[in-house]
Amino acid sequence: MEENIINLNGKNIEVINNSLIRVYKEKNSSKLVKLSLEHSDLDLKINDEEIRFNDYLLKIGDNQRLSVYKNDELLFNEISNNNFVRYDDEGEVKTRIKFEITDKAYIYGLGDKAAFLNRKGYQYVSWNTDDPTAHNETYRSLYKSINFMIINDRDKYVGIFYPSSYKTLFDLGKTFPNEINIISQKGSDDYFLILGDNPLDIIRTYSLLVGRTFLPRLKMLGNQQSRWSYAKEEDFRYVVNGYKSNKLPLDYIHLDIDYMVRFSNFTVDKEKYPNLKSLSDEMKEQGIDIVAIYDAGVKVEKGYFFYDNLLKMDYLLTLDNKPYVNVVWPGDSVFPNYFDSKCREYVTNEAINFEEKYGIAGIWCDMNEPASFNGPLPLNVEARKANGEVFYHDEFHNMYGEYMTRSIAKSFTRRNLRPFVITRACFATTSKYSLVWNGDNQSLWHHLEASLPQVATMNICNFPLDGVDVGGFNCDVTKELLIRWIEANIFNPFLRNHSSAGTRGQEPWAFDEETLNVYRDMLSIRYELIPYLYDLSVKAHLKGEPIIRPLFVNFPFDEKVKEINDQVMIGESLMICPIVHQGKKDRVVYLPEGNWYDYFTHQKYEGNKKMLVEIPLDKTCIFVKEGAILPKYRNLLSINKNEIDEIIFDASYGEGTYINYEDDGETLDYLQGESNEYCITNHKGKVSVEYKYKGYVSPYKHIYVYDGKEYKDVIDELK
Ligand code: GLC
Repeated sequence: MEENIINLNGKNIEVINNSLIRVYKEKNSSKLVKLSLEHSDLDLKINDEEIRFNDYLLKIGDNQRLSVYKNDELLFNEISNNNFVRYDDEGEVKTRIKFEITDKAYIYGLGDKAAFLNRKGYQYVSWNTDDPTAHNETYRSLYKSINFMIINDRDKYVGIFYPSSYKTLFDLGKTFPNEINIISQKGSDDYFLILGDNPLDIIRTYSLLVGRTFLPRLKMLGNQQSRWSYAKEEDFRYVVNGYKSNKLPLDYIHLDIDYMVRFSNFTVDKEKYPNLKSLSDEMKEQGIDIVAIYDAGVKVEKGYFFYDNLLKMDYLLTLDNKPYVNVVWPGDSVFPNYFDSKCREYVTNEAINFEEKYGIAGIWCDMNEPASFNGPLPLNVEARKANGEVFYHDEFHNMYGEYMTRSIAKSFTRRNLRPFVITRACFATTSKYSLVWNGDNQSLWHHLEASLPQVATMNICNFPLDGVDVGGFNCDVTKELLIRWIEANIFNPFLRNHSSAGTRGQEPWAFDEETLNVYRDMLSIRYELIPYLYDLSVKAHLKGEPIIRPLFVNFPFDEKVKEINDQVMIGESLMICPIVHQGKKDRVVYLPEGNWYDYFTHQKYEGNKKMLVEIPLDKTCIFVKEGAILPKYRNLLSINKNEIDEIIFDASYGEGTYINYEDDGETLDYLQGESNEYCITNHKGKVSVEYKYKGYVSPYKHIYVYDGKEYKDVIDELK
């Protein structure tokens, strides 16, 4: 494919395909950032100062400023002026990129930052940061660096991605209301412009550039319970008994750092967990898998095999030619050099040993900003690649989490298993290896409020498999907050209740019968809709589509949805409108255009209007879009694909078509075509199912369709 790089007045404009343009004088040179550029042949009309293709016109004006027009209307504009945004950081600034925005612009994206969808008026810094205090909208840096924005301005949408791994400041109309300033000390002036008619097209293109997310195990969509600290087997059994005796579904229990010997990775404290393998075997029988934490810092201790080996083989970050030491949970700690492929390979092998020895199903990578208790890592800490190339901390900092997860993800894929890796720190390109959670939130109402826009924002940034700690990590949750939290977050793709040591317990039964009953009701909605969430995971994997969506993704030209933070769509068909404020028992819901059904009562409502909805403590509020067909499971307490012998296609929401996907939910065999696709149609009230693709031997004994009146088993008609 021809590379369309056009030099206009000293500026390079690379038209990669219909929807992706790269603009630079100097390309981002970091070899740590891996992008995938899909060039296609285009009919470009070029003269000295402009390029035309499709509906677009690109012009270079004074001071090498780029302007982009769509159908002759301005879409996007670089500016040059003397406005100077202060960068209160040490070091000189190399690059300043400026874009113009109007007063009406909305700016979305930039990953995990708290607290609202629209980022306009704020300033952010991409520099992965572990800050345990209570995050709010003034926090410039959190755990993740995802330099992607969607700008909605002049009635159009455009995406911008800044691919540098160096520390970068984004001033989004904070200092100058009509400017976006991207300022980098070391990164170059290289950025991507992503074109598309609507946000979904832009997200699809962007996700291809940074790499689409992996397909999760079906089970991963199940409920997960964690706490720092389930310190010993007795605590672990307390959790299992709590779930079993209260008939609550559960798929994973997480082991936080307490299971280790003196917080040392890949060790198990035999006094606390005398036989972890037999415990995990016993749990597997009951449908529960174990996820174990794995930290970035490795304990400095002679005689500890992992430390000894990393040291012996030179697989550590160094400073002045010596292993660099800081302090994390284990005390003095060193940091594996995951940028060296041999080190990654070594850790992959240790992870496989560990997972097999103890029956561990998933690994939770933590503290990988990397966090350090004895001041930050100096910027000249070194990482040497296997080929001798050296990278310094200022360049690799934001990539450390990603390279760590690459090493761990392989421990699963090498055994033909889909990865189950969770990471706290990441860069824009990490979701092909790992799912994410948003770090240490707190049991505060404003953190519950922030959870919806946070998860939705991560989703539009190509991190569909995201979640927050349900109930809040730090502080003591109250009964009401825990109830509202599980109600609001019940569709988070990664659903985990997690809390800090020393806080009040927040397992579903920690309060009273009412809390327990609501929690159970919510989990039963979740488990019912797991096939729907799985279909959305497949679309995320194949097409880059978000699972949890801000309303503007589905209704891009409805002005009323642009700043709705407390309602989100789940795919195309469901909308959740929970209570996220203390004491509230009703709220205003906005129904966008179309007709909608109440999920619980099946009552139909016309859209394009606001209404007041009563939502008592034991209820949440979910609407189904007309024409939806929902795939459902029933009565599950954990997910084992081989034992799920029926599926229901609920086509009671009017005429529509839907594709449901099925595979073994666990291995990579789907890549060899071992999957099924069912096409379900409701045409004038008559519901039919047919195979669109058949390549997997399904365990289903019944395939029911529901037309609103009766359930009909169609499995024999299908064969
Ligand atoms: C970090 C993690 C948290 C974990 C704790 C102890 O704070 O974010 O989830 O429980 O470390 O490992």
